[in-house]
Amino acid sequence: MSKTNLNLIAAACENMGIGVNGTLPWRLKKEMAYFTTMTSKVRDPSKKNAVIMGRKTWDSIPPKFSPLSNRVNIVLTRNVDQVKSKVPESVVVVPSLDEAIKYIESREDIELTWVIGGSSVYKASMEYPNCYKIYLTVIEKLFDCDTFFPNIDDQRFRLIQEEDVPTERQVEGDITYLYKVYKRL
Ligand SMILES: NC(=O)c1ccc[n+]([C@@H]2O[C@H](COP(=O)([O-])OP(=O)(O)OC[C@H]3O[C@@H](n4cnc5c(N)ncnc54)[C@H](OP(=O)(O)O)[C@@H]3O)[C@@H](O)[C@H]2O)c1
Repeated sequence: MSKTNLNLIAAACENMGIGVNGTLPWRLKKEMAYFTTMTSKVRDPSKKNAVIMGRKTWDSIPPKFSPLSNRVNIVLTRNVDQVKSKVPESVVVVPSLDEAIKYIESREDIELTWVIGGSSVYKASMEYPNCYKIYLTVIEKLFDCDTFFPNIDDQRFRLIQEEDVPTERQVEGDITYLYKVYKRL
């Protein structure tokens, strides 16, 4: 597998909602820990993974967790200079998904690429020839949302089982959810 194969990761509720008012509609500690583990873990300890996100997702990360630790944070924006002036120096700011991928190709120390949202970045990534897998947490509840995960085309993506992804239903408080993995056909 190439390091520029795109792995998408998202949590969506019953209507495929992923966000509201610039933040997450729910608070799920274990689910957040799953996100951190999946996007951070590497086989080669001398390497790190890259996380690609839209500028609004970057803005949604609470300051104490930003930049996301032990990962190369890459932010997409059409206003590169403006965003660059506001983020820590370690954060890579690029004007397109293609530029993000070129940057990752140029770095020997990146193992995997994770696309962490939001809507338009997921959509562009799903159309990208190197789109590989979608890690979707399906939350079995309806939340008020203004941001949504794009439609997953079942002609192009198939549900698979992955060794290190739990198949049993997860429970946190009164919320239940499932970890699903889709692979591009
Ligand atoms: N549940 C989940 O798994 C999950 C994951 C991620 C985010 N979220 C939620 O989703 C919301 C944020 O997502 P969003 O969809 O509103 O915004 P987003 O995709 O994070 O950010 C959109 C911005 O990214 C930049 N951008 C996007 N595509 C680009 C491209 N191809 N080239 C260059 N720049 C590009 C633009 O920035 P400029 O305006 O600066 O040009 C655009 O306005 C929040 O509520 C967040 O909490 C949820």
